[in-house]
Amino acid sequence: MFFQEILEGQPDPIFGLNEAFRADVLPYKVNLIIGIYKDEELQARLMHSVKKAIWEVFNQNLLADYLPIDGLPDFLEQIGALIFGEKRWKDNHSRIYGTQAIGGTGALQLGGQFLSGHVSKMIAVPTPTWPNHRSIFERAGCGVKTYPYYDREKHGIDFNSLSLALKKMPEKTIVLLHPVCHNPTGCDLSHEEWKELSRLMRERNILPFFDFAYQGLGDGIEKDRKAIEIFMDDGHEMLIGYSCSKNFSLYCQRVGALFVVSESSAVKLRIGSQIKKIIRSLYSNPPLHGARVVASLLENPSLKEEWKKELDFMRHRIANIREKLTQKLGDRFKFLCHHKGMFSFMDLDKSQVERLIEEFGIYLTDNGRISLTGLNAKNMDYVVEAIRAV
Ligand code: LMR
Repeated sequence: MFFQEILEGQPDPIFGLNEAFRADVLPYKVNLIIGIYKDEELQARLMHSVKKAIWEVFNQNLLADYLPIDGLPDFLEQIGALIFGEKRWKDNHSRIYGTQAIGGTGALQLGGQFLSGHVSKMIAVPTPTWPNHRSIFERAGCGVKTYPYYDREKHGIDFNSLSLALKKMPEKTIVLLHPVCHNPTGCDLSHEEWKELSRLMRERNILPFFDFAYQGLGDGIEKDRKAIEIFMDDGHEMLIGYSCSKNFSLYCQRVGALFVVSESSAVKLRIGSQIKKIIRSLYSNPPLHGARVVASLLENPSLKEEWKKELDFMRHRIANIREKLTQKLGDRFKFLCHHKGMFSFMDLDKSQVERLIEEFGIYLTDNGRISLTGLNAKNMDYVVEAIRAV
């Protein structure tokens, strides 16, 4: 017998809870768990522009060859321009290494393994953060520490404690940052705060690792790269893990990328050679379909325009849901209106969340985060009453 001693693992705080939601037989249950964009019918659908790109790809004369270890060059070209903006991408291209990754999660894992093997084994993540960050970086061989980010009493960012923590960090610590739509709180740093953070991190010789999973869902494609622009202009080396799950509705295709900004083209080559060794032993080379869909869409100006409009619509719709919820909940929840992106932190404690799940069939993660597009005109009042009740 080989497997008898195996202990049962804890269910994932997000996907595990989603399974519990599926198993719940309550007819009026509400799912506010996963960060996935749903329409008014509460369905997660492919974006129209992405569907059109899929048709384009089907009509191409496809070969069955492997991709290079680091993926589809056309995809990386396009995503590089989205992340850095056309000009910065062109100007710095020669010193930025990019590779396709298996979703944003795969990009973080790859970056973590590269860093722990070659740069530093110490990473600090914000409190709170996406729960998977700790698991990803621990598996990658990093020691995971935390830095203060959110103050529940103030319902906002505790920038003083954050700066103080950075000032005390040992050199060469890696710091995980959410450039926009902070997950789970929905609270983002201001332009001035990003500038101050950038200055502090340069001073302390700290390496930024951006988890960029929501471009276009904060203030729009261009504005959402503000933090990256500030750090580029301040001359940082850095890593960026990118996800196409939310902004291209390609959740199940696992389309992502990892970019490493280095000081020179010679260093870039060496970085690439090491990252390729990791990929080769992990999954050899990435799948093609989703990356080709994204590349085809972004290479086609009219499709790209259509995609941007759809993304704008999604962003405004989420903002409307948040506004309605804030109005209905009243003054005590005014802080919600400052949030950005798919999530809002409700500042409910664990026992309140438990009551919402058990008494009302309203499912949300135990840190009190809600995914706003789980709400619609039919269930909003019910959720508001339940939140008031707990
Ligand atoms: C979330 O935070 O709900 C999403 O990023 C989905 C996930 O993988 O956890």
